[in-house]
Order: sequence, then C-alpha cells, then structure tokens
Amino acid sequence: MALYSEKVMDHFRNPRNVGVIEDADGVGEVGNAKCGDIMKVYLKIDSGVITDVKFETFGCGSAIASSSMATELIKGKPVSEAAELTNKAVAEALDGLPDYKMHCSVLAEEAIKKALEDYYSKNP
Ligand code: FES
Repeated sequence: MALYSEKVMDHFRNPRNVGVIEDADGVGEVGNAKCGDIMKVYLKIDSGVITDVKFETFGCGSAIASSSMATELIKGKPVSEAAELTNKAVAEALDGLPDYKMHCSVLAEEAIKKALEDYYSKNP
C-alpha cells in the first residue's frame, strides 16, 4: 500500500487556498516545536460565515495537504462549525495519514482555532 493516499498527494501537489488575506478578520499562526514546521491561516468572516480562507505553510507535505484540506472544509461554513473541525476529520477527508504524520493535521486544527480566537477577540 502506498504510504500516502491519492488525496494527500493531490492536495500536496495542488494545494488549495494558498496565500495571504491582507485585510483578514482573523489570523492564526502555530508551529510544531519538534519538526519546526509553521502554519498560518487567514480568515475573512462576514455575518458569522467564513467567506474566504487562505494559508501559508512552511512544512512537510502532510502539513501542506492538511492545511489545504482544512481550508476547503471550513470555506463557506459558519464560524461555529469551523471551530469544531478536528484534526481527525481533516485526516479522514484526506483518506488517512500515517500515524507518525497525524501531528501535521493537528497543526491545521490549531491554526484555524487560533485564527478564530483572533477573530473573537476583535469581535466580542
Ligand atoms: Fe512537521 Fe509534518 S513533519 S508538520
């Protein structure tokens, strides 16, 4: 069996939503101290709905695929739903990640949560 699913390879090779939102309503940056990878997520939110989302990831292929999939999963969704996104759901949507690569999907969950916290702190 291939180590990575076709979906992981697809999102790694053609990541969706890469970039920066200059006037973002929420920004979240997280890093993994062990591997040194960094992920930054930008959210544009209108009436409680995520109208746009972009990311920058300086990290491994699984981290790039996870950020790509995670941004696809929350785009167009209410913030309440995005807040509940788990790294497990991201990995499942990618048709799985090897066990030792699950921490890469955790970065995506954490970056989104941090961006939402930033949004809530500005829009209490
Ligand atoms: Fe660090 Fe994947 S190895 S996020």
